[in-house]
Amino acid sequence: MQHVLIIGATGFTGRYVLDELSRSGRYDISLFVRDPAKLSFLPTASGRRVHYGTIEDIKALTAALRGVEILVCTASLGFGHAPNLLQACHDASVQRTIFFSTTAIFTRLNPPSKKLRLAAETAIQASGLDYTILRPTMIYGARGDRNIFRLIRYIDRMPIIVIPGRGHNLLQPVFVKDLAMAVRQILAEPSTIGKCYTLSGRDVIPFGDLVRYLASALERRRMYLHIPICLATAPLSVLNACGLRTPIKVEQILRLQEDKTFSFDEAANDFGYAPSSLAEVLQAEVAEYLGDTGRA
Ligand SMILES: NC(=O)c1ccc[n+]([C@@H]2O[C@H](COP(=O)([O-])OP(=O)(O)OC[C@H]3O[C@@H](n4cnc5c(N)ncnc54)[C@H](OP(=O)(O)O)[C@@H]3O)[C@@H](O)[C@H]2O)c1
Repeated sequence: MQHVLIIGATGFTGRYVLDELSRSGRYDISLFVRDPAKLSFLPTASGRRVHYGTIEDIKALTAALRGVEILVCTASLGFGHAPNLLQACHDASVQRTIFFSTTAIFTRLNPPSKKLRLAAETAIQASGLDYTILRPTMIYGARGDRNIFRLIRYIDRMPIIVIPGRGHNLLQPVFVKDLAMAVRQILAEPSTIGKCYTLSGRDVIPFGDLVRYLASALERRRMYLHIPICLATAPLSVLNACGLRTPIKVEQILRLQEDKTFSFDEAANDFGYAPSSLAEVLQAEVAEYLGDTGRA
């Protein structure tokens, strides 16, 4: 059995990666976790070796990586942690690595995180490690996803749905379980070493159609109010400038003007990536939401 360390198992995607690798029965899995309280929500974490620490703490990170053969890191590369991760892998002689980046690196906007993510990808590619970098699109598909599950709740609760812009921008969200399966497939396929893969969903949908589809699945009749992008961003900018956190960021609204469609052909060719049907996953996600609200 190969020894895998997962960083990020307490996050949305990480817990599915943990489940998938556990189910494969092929790996001895340990976890690097910064908040022990979150482990109680992870049934598959039970009985695993757990190292506590943050990626900022290179000593803790290196100690957790000793004896490990494969690092799977689902924690974001957008916070400037890549040098620590790479140094710790070298110090602990871990060669095989999988890192999660994002298709947000292709945005025409210039949020600060873009520079950090690009720098992280460059550093990983120059590291000499046997890396694979995954670039998912918007991740969705179950309770806890901060994209579509939140949108479902918003549509369910609000009689008027505000849509910044015309809602024609295209999305290609990726199901979280497809990403977890991709990690498993990649680890079984050596030709994925030294590659970066765009991992998008099977289907493309305009944002406005997605909103209407979800309203229909929720059996909610809604009014749709299209407002200019600048009207949506202006109040958020003021709130953010005052140091207040908002449920959605200005960058997220601005990105609603961009089409976010990406080919997954290379992943399909190299390791058999075959993402799920958007409609099927959305139906299941709405059913999960309705179950939570006692209306299933
Ligand atoms: N969500 C999306 O739609 C999306 C889209 C494209 C790409 N991505 C990328 O895909 C990956 C997974 O996304 P996600 O939304 O599933 O992530 P997430 O829910 O935010 O989970 C991130 C995980 O990393 C851990 N983590 C973060 N910073 C850490 C640190 N300094 N030290 C130790 N652990 C740390 C978190 O620990 P805690 O549980 O303690 O917070 C959590 O377990 C990320 O790399 C993200 O950038 C996400």
